Amino acid sequence: MKRPLDPGVLVVFEGIDGVGKSTQIGAVAGALRGLGIEVVASKEPTDGPFGKRLRASATTGRLDPAAELELFVADRREHVANLILPSLARGAVVILDRYYFSNAAYQGARGLSWESILAANEEFAPEPDLLVWLDLPPERSLERIRTRGDVANEFERAHLLEASRAIFGSIRKPYLRRMDATQSVGSIRDVVVDEVMRLRAARDGNATRG
Ligand code: TYD
Repeated sequence: MKRPLDPGVLVVFEGIDGVGKSTQIGAVAGALRGLGIEVVASKEPTDGPFGKRLRASATTGRLDPAAELELFVADRREHVANLILPSLARGAVVILDRYYFSNAAYQGARGLSWESILAANEEFAPEPDLLVWLDLPPERSLERIRTRGDVANEFERAHLLEASRAIFGSIRKPYLRRMDATQSVGSIRDVVVDEVMRLRAARDGNATRG
């Protein structure tokens, strides 16, 4: 959807499993809060009823692609209405660990059209101001998953991750920024925080020009 004229900033982190999205988000959120900025950090799938069913399917056996897509979209509709839009309206910096770009990349990797998935989501979900794609080859991301002591689940099979990564690489959006996820957490944090501050300043400039 076209972004309403809200005062918030929407930042999305995407990338295949194991690239370090949650660690990176913790670092960025901490730095922004330290500057006195209200940050709302959230993730998809959510902890709501649809999200819970999706998480369970990662270990108990995946749903067919169309049913899976439908559940992710239902989960996101609730997330947008209940948390994302109200927080942006209040002027918060909203940071998401996955959003509909994961829908395109992961359900696209199962054979659905990723372009159609993006278009369907853009009808109801606000587009981000900044989309940080943390990029890493699947060999490296799976290694990170093993190092943290986890066993890769059904969403994390190497060939599927390769296909998802290729789709992330095909998405063309002015707000997308690819970042090499082998860089340190601190250096990625600094780039993202600078960009968020720039976006906030630009937004304040627009508000006073009114
Ligand atoms: P993940 O970020 O791994 O959540 P957690 O570690 O908290 O369980 O997300 C679970 C999986 O969901 C992940 O492998 C990617 C997948 N996914 C999709 O397939 N489509 C989507 O639209 C989203 C948001 C996630």
